[in-house]
Amino acid sequence: MGHREEILDILRTNDGVYTSGEELADILGISRTMIWKYIVSLREDGFVVESMTNRGYRLVSTPDLLLQGEVQRNLNTDFIGKQMYYFDEIDSTNRKARELAPECPDGTLIIAERQSEGRGRMGREWYSPQGGIWLSLILKPDISPDHIYRLTLVAGVSVAETLAGMGIAAQVKWPNDIIIHEKKVCGILTEVDAEMDAVNFVIVGIGINANIELDMLPSILGVSSTSLKEYTGGDINRVMLVRRLLERFEQDYGAFISGDFNSILKRWREHSATLNRRVRIITRFKTIEGEAVGIDHDGALVVEMDDGTLEREITGTCVHL
Ligand code: BTN
Repeated sequence: MGHREEILDILRTNDGVYTSGEELADILGISRTMIWKYIVSLREDGFVVESMTNRGYRLVSTPDLLLQGEVQRNLNTDFIGKQMYYFDEIDSTNRKARELAPECPDGTLIIAERQSEGRGRMGREWYSPQGGIWLSLILKPDISPDHIYRLTLVAGVSVAETLAGMGIAAQVKWPNDIIIHEKKVCGILTEVDAEMDAVNFVIVGIGINANIELDMLPSILGVSSTSLKEYTGGDINRVMLVRRLLERFEQDYGAFISGDFNSILKRWREHSATLNRRVRIITRFKTIEGEAVGIDHDGALVVEMDDGTLEREITGTCVHL
């Protein structure tokens, strides 16, 4: 922990009660002038720290930012998010993750307040204003490249259950959208760097429309998109959401890596908005329509066509009809 984080930690522990500059200086073994400099830097990041002559400093409020110290404080994971890069603004966390991946350990987190060139699936743009949660995880699983798409289902279950745990009725829409009442609230973009038979790294990019006013979303998205703020009627605690998501994902990813994809699929089915629905699936090669009757042990969607034949798809765009 750096000096700044240590000061924050002490002020937090003293919970609104003044701590003198002298005491802080003694604990950290630095001068009172340095303490003052760290307080100024905290204020610049939006921490409200009151100072009073002869009494010292007290923490009044923390900003709604996904700062490293905030996300990692009380984060109960072994490796997911233990190494973290935070950006106020970046082009795309997925792009940055790809750049950093060769040098980073499994589970490294890249997170940003805003993305200027957020990427969606199929080369689409992903609108990423302040208030959302835009993150990418660098993963180094020892699995076959053929099984990468399963990771998207794993992440989808983790997001849906994290939201469910906060009382938000989120469902998974095949293959990788999280929706609330048929409107998209989260998208997942999985990118891979692999050889024929070995995975170098995988980037799982997760974008959640958290504290976003709907009129901030471009109108073409507004029709079919929603945000957590729209659903709950107020701001949600983004730091808490990220922490819970990382913790849940570590469990789910762990189960997946140890070969237990079945339990993930079981939970995917429980949260699915796609199963037992009439769907149109658009892939690069064809478009089909039928009833989504299941998801098989590989994670492929099984569609029953009108003539009774079954088709399996592992990726594509899905429209609920
Ligand atoms: C989709 O099209 O549904 C996928 C959207 C994925 C968006 C996230 S936001 C964080 C990460 N960085 C990106 O540039 N994209 C993903």
